[in-house]
Amino acid sequence: MSVIQGAPRGVIPGHLLKGQKALVTGANSGIGKATAIGLGRAGADVVVNYVAGRGEAEQVVEEISGFGVRAMAYEADVSQEDQVVAMIERMVQEFGTIDILVANAGLQRDAPFTEMTTAQWQKVLDVNLTGQFLCAREATKEFLRRGVVPEVSHAAGKIICMSSVHQLIPWAGHVNYAASKGGVQMMMETLAQELAPHRIRVNAIAPGAIRTPINRSAWDTPDAEKDLLQLIPYRRVGDPEDIAHAVVGLASDLMDYVVGTTLYVDGGMTLFPGFATGG
Ligand code: BGC
Repeated sequence: MSVIQGAPRGVIPGHLLKGQKALVTGANSGIGKATAIGLGRAGADVVVNYVAGRGEAEQVVEEISGFGVRAMAYEADVSQEDQVVAMIERMVQEFGTIDILVANAGLQRDAPFTEMTTAQWQKVLDVNLTGQFLCAREATKEFLRRGVVPEVSHAAGKIICMSSVHQLIPWAGHVNYAASKGGVQMMMETLAQELAPHRIRVNAIAPGAIRTPINRSAWDTPDAEKDLLQLIPYRRVGDPEDIAHAVVGLASDLMDYVVGTTLYVDGGMTLFPGFATGG
């Protein structure tokens, strides 16, 4: 069977998010980078947050500027309250407001359970969960202040939490990461319930195995990739663009009635592929 192996290209409609202001955290590499570029391609002005890697962030800004929209790199550690507050304040000063938050910044600090240090546990919870909480809270204050502007969007704001298939699939050797993503799911659903009456839509995307630096060892040799593909019924490793496309769609008014949902973008990884031939 001859099949295309990568994410579809050239499928983002250029005016879908015209006039909207988006913040993507952790946007200097991987999923965040592709997402920031995708939002820019769809017509949004974009703040490219990063914590390290200014050069890469500036390159993302340059690429986004090529779409005729505004982009700005901003350094902030999402786990630090004062830095998050300052980032949203600056964005509102520069761009006027925020319409879309993609709470994407995340990391792994893997270790077998009895070897996992408290520092490894805490770091992952701080960035992956507290970071999303802080960014969501500060963005929500601005959504509530501004309210709905019908010419821009049917919603007063959209929050997209970057979760993982590991909000559902337990993951030995990664208890800090899996716990953080389980937390993201319940945080997202609770915020969705609390904020929906204000026309703020909170949703999550749960990527599967996406070809990024975070999981390089899982795909960068033919043997590793072969093992990984056993876990993916669609039989291709995801590209960051696969996630960017989902974010653009979910952030747009095409999905205005989608509230409190996790969209799994995983090539079927959560379908218990082991049972295709067993059970
Ligand atoms: C992790 C990756 C992993 C993928 C599928 C992601 O959330 O960050 O390291 O490859 O889940 O297991």
